[in-house]
Amino acid sequence: MINLAIFASGNGSNFEAIAKAVANEEIKANIKVLICDKPKAYVIERAKKYNILTCVFSLKKYGSKEKYEEAIVKVLKELNVDLICLAGYMKICGETLLNNYKNKIINIHPALLPAFKGAHAIIDAYNYGVKVYGVTIHYVNQEIDGGKIISQGVIDYNEGDTLEQIEEKIHKLEHKLYVQTINKLIKEGI
Ligand code: GRF
Repeated sequence: MINLAIFASGNGSNFEAIAKAVANEEIKANIKVLICDKPKAYVIERAKKYNILTCVFSLKKYGSKEKYEEAIVKVLKELNVDLICLAGYMKICGETLLNNYKNKIINIHPALLPAFKGAHAIIDAYNYGVKVYGVTIHYVNQEIDGGKIISQGVIDYNEGDTLEQIEEKIHKLEHKLYVQTINKLIKEGI
């Protein structure tokens, strides 16, 4: 079976959607580890619920992105991780991670890339006044939110939807699309 690592920094609803799908055997893979860069992140509580090993790494403690990522890569190699799923991981992947896991790191972004890159995609799209909202899952490379697209989905948007309603629909779609996409990659041999 494929070994997954999930990287997250915050709430972790995508983490939980994947963990749930693995627990239900909807995804036939192991989640070997949650990598988290924030010791107080709620995602850590979610991992406990699913008995998933959590490793917290602080960039400050390592002093450089390179040293920080070397420590993470060491853990990933020990656990034979095949695929890294970023799920609200708020750091930019550096060369160490990218070179060790070329085309093996994927990310979920709450907009239809290449539109609305960056950390505030939903509100940016809302303020722009778009009429089609969606989610993208893509490979991670050195260009932020710029790697090859693997899958996209759109929400059922109604004129007059509030920002909160749009956010809710986007997150619901994210959870579904992430599970489907991981399964697609497993089926295709990653
Ligand atoms: C999601 O909207 C994801 O697209 C983005 O960060 C958010 C993480 O949410 N990259 P959660 O922590 O999974 O609830």
